[in-house]
Amino acid sequence: MEINKIFAAIVITLIIVVGIGKLSDIIYKVDKPSEVAYKLEATEDSSLGTKTAESSVDLTALLALGDISHGETTFKKCKSCHSIKKGGKNNIGPALWGIMERKAGGLNDYKYSKALVAHGKKWSFEELNGFLLKPSTWIKGNKMGFGGLKNDKDRASVILYLNQNSDNPIPLP
Ligand code: HEC
Repeated sequence: MEINKIFAAIVITLIIVVGIGKLSDIIYKVDKPSEVAYKLEATEDSSLGTKTAESSVDLTALLALGDISHGETTFKKCKSCHSIKKGGKNNIGPALWGIMERKAGGLNDYKYSKALVAHGKKWSFEELNGFLLKPSTWIKGNKMGFGGLKNDKDRASVILYLNQNSDNPIPLP
């Protein structure tokens, strides 16, 4: 008799546990994230800013996608390492006020990697586009720990924002 009671108690408990599991499956089904959101993001990477063997970058078309206020928002990704303010200090990365037309690796009070100094170019729309698309391949061996901005609008916007944060913003190409 005792054994039967215990057995019945176990069975009832099992039924309740399984039942709750099923029920919560039904309740939470709606909230499960769908994969579609990720797929959409992945297809946003387009090739407008990518240099190919036959054609150089169409900077005019690329920059036309940009928007300074969107650039300010996107720059949040850079802020952990870079100051953009006039008179801003070097951080993990060098201060970026007036970066346009400045020589790469051009600040005296920041310790750049040899690779960046050896690059020997001025920051132009084209150089910034190439670098920000994929820092590690544009200047091999540089020490900026950032994967790049693959999205054309984000990249174009940040470039416009960088240009704007300067004593002398240069005209768009
Ligand atoms: C994890 C930190 C980090 C993040 C995030 C980061 N950077 Fe940098 N950045 C650096 C470092 C470090 C350097 C110096 C690289 C070297 O000396 O090789 C650098 C260098 C640069 C330079 C060259 C500056 C010069 O004086 O020549 C530019 C331009 C730049 N970063 C722009 C950006 C932008 C725009 C973003 C955001 C989209 C960004 N960085 C995100 C760390 C970072």
